[in-house]
Amino acid sequence: MRISILGGGGFLGRKIANRLAKEGTLGGHRVHGLTLFDIVTPPVPEAPFPVVALAGDVVDLPEAAIPPGTDVVFHLAAVVSAQAEADYDLGRRVNLRGTDALVDACRRLVAAGGKPPRVVFTSSVASFSATQADTLPDAAKQVPGNSYGAQKAAAELILADASRRGFMDVVSVRLPTVTVRPGRPNKAASSFFSGIIREPLLGLEAELPVPDDFGVWVCSPRRAVDWLLHAGAMDTTGMGLDRSLSPPGISTTVGDMLRAMDEVQPGASALVRRVADPAIAAIVGTWPPAFTAERARALGFVPHEPFVDVVRAFIEDDLAATRQERGL
Ligand SMILES: NC(=O)c1ccc[n+]([C@@H]2O[C@H](COP(=O)([O-])OP(=O)(O)OC[C@H]3O[C@@H](n4cnc5c(N)ncnc54)[C@H](O)[C@@H]3O)[C@@H](O)[C@H]2O)c1
Repeated sequence: MRISILGGGGFLGRKIANRLAKEGTLGGHRVHGLTLFDIVTPPVPEAPFPVVALAGDVVDLPEAAIPPGTDVVFHLAAVVSAQAEADYDLGRRVNLRGTDALVDACRRLVAAGGKPPRVVFTSSVASFSATQADTLPDAAKQVPGNSYGAQKAAAELILADASRRGFMDVVSVRLPTVTVRPGRPNKAASSFFSGIIREPLLGLEAELPVPDDFGVWVCSPRRAVDWLLHAGAMDTTGMGLDRSLSPPGISTTVGDMLRAMDEVQPGASALVRRVADPAIAAIVGTWPPAFTAERARALGFVPHEPFVDVVRAFIEDDLAATRQERGL
């Protein structure tokens, strides 16, 4: 099996690459080659198969990013939420034109006699809007409350049509907010959901821009990777024309997340300062706090562990590396 990861140098891209390198298989099939593509050359994990790392712009996707014979493409390259809202041109360019470039690359593979590759696209909870009281069913309409969400919803449609036309075999996974994100705060509007756990566990202060009873739909990096790998290998014959799904995340509140952290490290939440930020609240305030996620469960997407285990997993997987990366 040959795999490409567009956005292979990002947070989830690196985690997928590391997992593939560790396991050496995807869906029970041996991996024979991995290509990592990002705006700067992604780090290469030690792997039992050849790994090629390439730098470039997804909008001008080079042929080498998805070489002939590629079986699975993880399309993660994106301009994330707050940045896409702040820079309309950049978000539209990367999130829409980058997706078009992927469609064209897959068309070329098929036109040259290749098999349509499985494409796993990371869509987002941000492609929906709802009130804090809502639990969205699988049939809920995507009504994005920000440009990033609109670009994700549009990309899902374009990819589903490309799939129908036989250029690819797509599964779009509408990821919850992935928490706890290692490293530093980033330009996602959701960055603080990780910050309020990661920073106190590092002994640092964090700002909370929304009230404690704010409801949020989250998942751990471990579970996000499980789901994306499942999407890379699952049987799609029963999906029909609808190639998108919401995986079974956790519906929680910021207050419950802080209580879970205190259970693991008593007193840690004292480092969280309440600092209202209307711009961030306006973006995340439109994101639904819960989904029924029945379709994904039926398609074999594993359910989520409780949030306290997410905190423990962050400590196990990422705390030491984050400390080292930030010189703490
Ligand atoms: N992390 C989350 O909470 C979350 C939630 C829902 C959806 N998603 C989606 O999952 C995917 C991965 O998210 P992430 O958290 O790893 O984000 P990330 O920002 O760490 O990774 C995205 C990668 O895309 C790359 N990229 C941006 N513009 C590019 C360009 N023009 N050409 C090539 N590469 C480019 C970036 O350099 C980055 O490495 C994204 O598509 C994101 O929208 C993430």
